[in-house]
Amino acid sequence: MKIITRIKTMQNLTQKLRREGQRIGFVPTMGYLHDGHGSLLKACRRQNDISVLSIFVNPVQFGPQEDLQSYPRDKKNDVLLAKKENVDIIFYPSEKVMYPGRYLTYIHVDEITATLCGASRPGHFRGVATVVGKLLNIIQPHRVYFGQKDAQQCVVIRQMVQDLNIPVRVCVLPTVREKDGLALSSRNAYLTEKERQEAPALYQTLKMAEAEIRRGEQDPRRLTQMMAQFLNSRCPQGNIEYVMCVNAETLEPVKIIQGTVLLALAVRLGKARLIDNVLLRV
Ligand code: PAJ
Repeated sequence: MKIITRIKTMQNLTQKLRREGQRIGFVPTMGYLHDGHGSLLKACRRQNDISVLSIFVNPVQFGPQEDLQSYPRDKKNDVLLAKKENVDIIFYPSEKVMYPGRYLTYIHVDEITATLCGASRPGHFRGVATVVGKLLNIIQPHRVYFGQKDAQQCVVIRQMVQDLNIPVRVCVLPTVREKDGLALSSRNAYLTEKERQEAPALYQTLKMAEAEIRRGEQDPRRLTQMMAQFLNSRCPQGNIEYVMCVNAETLEPVKIIQGTVLLALAVRLGKARLIDNVLLRV
């Protein structure tokens, strides 16, 4: 396994691999790897000749009041996990390498970045789109892998890839969960024991809502009100940021629950901001 820190080295290597006819798969991450990342790495390994992982805590996607400084990092364990998943190349750039002194170019995806997480994290998806755009230019993979856990991120990246004609296939994999339903996240490390006990309420709320829809509920307002009540009762330490029922492609709120809808929520629980979602075909 190679660990590469320089952009030119990475670009030269993937260009050589492409000339040789090797199929390159790529999993972008911010490190502190868990089994959610593991599932993306497994698919990447299975579907490609070369498996590339990037680890970069991207400062541009964090707001000024957010957790950039405290974001968990563990290079040693990440390298071990990458080896276990048979990663061929880790791209591990520094901030200076990715954003040198005079850096002026950002990618803004319109409309779909203003809702859900984008509403409370202005600039977040601009940072995500920018860094993923850069990483795709550096690694030039045939396929790139994302987790459904960050549903809006997937929609934003698909839109960017389409709009900017980036020659890559975007692959989205299901959310990996703990036994009690909590979606795996690097930020779960922030939870105290008591908060951790309440955290499964997010997924329970989504499952309850899914059952209501299967029973015939079609009114998104009634449903999201019910979800908020349920969530508050099971997660009293949490503060709901949003509970929404949106069109899975446009991310616009639906007027009636039919077609493919995304039920999504975000909750502040202690130092953590937790998100979860389910995609439903009604
Ligand atoms: P990070 O939070 O490290 O996540 C990297 C990838 O792992 C993302 O595609 C995310 O959706 C996926 N992932 C996280 N938890 C998951 C889970 N429980 N199940 C399945 N997949 C999961 O997302 C980012 O980093 C950054 O925004 C990035 C795309 C790397 C750009 O900086």
